[in-house]
Amino acid sequence: MLVSAKEMLTKAKAGHYAVGQFNINNLEWTKSILLTAQELNSPVILGVSEGAGKYMAGYKTVVGMVNGMLEEQNITVPVALHLDHGSYEGCFKCIEAGFSSIMFDGSHYPIEENVAKTKELVAICNEKGISLEAEVGSIGGEEDGVVGMGEVADPKECKAIADLGVTMLAAGIGNIHGKYPANWQGLSFETLDAIQQLTGDMPLVLHGGTGIPADMIKKAISLGVSKINVNTECQLAFAEATRKYIEAGKDLEGKGYDPRKLLAPGAEAIKATVKEKMELFGSVGKA
Ligand code: 13P
Repeated sequence: MLVSAKEMLTKAKAGHYAVGQFNINNLEWTKSILLTAQELNSPVILGVSEGAGKYMAGYKTVVGMVNGMLEEQNITVPVALHLDHGSYEGCFKCIEAGFSSIMFDGSHYPIEENVAKTKELVAICNEKGISLEAEVGSIGGEEDGVVGMGEVADPKECKAIADLGVTMLAAGIGNIHGKYPANWQGLSFETLDAIQQLTGDMPLVLHGGTGIPADMIKKAISLGVSKINVNTECQLAFAEATRKYIEAGKDLEGKGYDPRKLLAPGAEAIKATVKEKMELFGSVGKA
């Protein structure tokens, strides 16, 4: 059964480790992540962006697939199904479809509007027992070939949003989605420290987990980060393993063209990436 992310993140914050959010794109992704979480006895959050939700034939399809897999594969570790960077409308659709967690990304609205919309969603999520992530300070990344550097959140605005009663808070601290450019300045720990001082027990979320060096991840966890989002790294691992399979001509040998064979190296590569991250984040054995 899907669970809200509240309990797993409260435990993570108190225990000084982080739970990984791994974004899913299809059945192989979902299966690889769930089986790895179960094998390592780790809680896990499955992230679904609005684009990925559309790709997977709609939010209800995703809920059906994930719920079925939890049952049929005997997954007993805590699993939250989470909307990643949801629009205001997208949040309502996912609540209706049966997601157990949502992110409302109001970071592009003026702060007053972000507060008003987040407040409304807090009331609805509380009533339904769904966890809610809010965002302050937009997280940059590659859009149309241009890499935006990402904003650094204002700690006071973070406190204003945290005080609304959200479950977890994503704050921009110089992190970006996708690969980091060579001239990246690194995470702003000063900002993270200031945010944690003002928001206390609130689990903080680090987006753009791909490519952040291990020492920075550890330091971020020590300063209150309890949820770390990883997407691109699984995509890169999957693509590389699939390319090797094709380049080695394996699809041309016997029934190597069978999708269950062709996608297997990619699925294994996702498992290895997820395992590495769960070990680094410290969530192994914490289910
Ligand atoms: P990456 O793709 O950089 O790992 O970021 C994932 C993320 O933050 C999803 O919200």
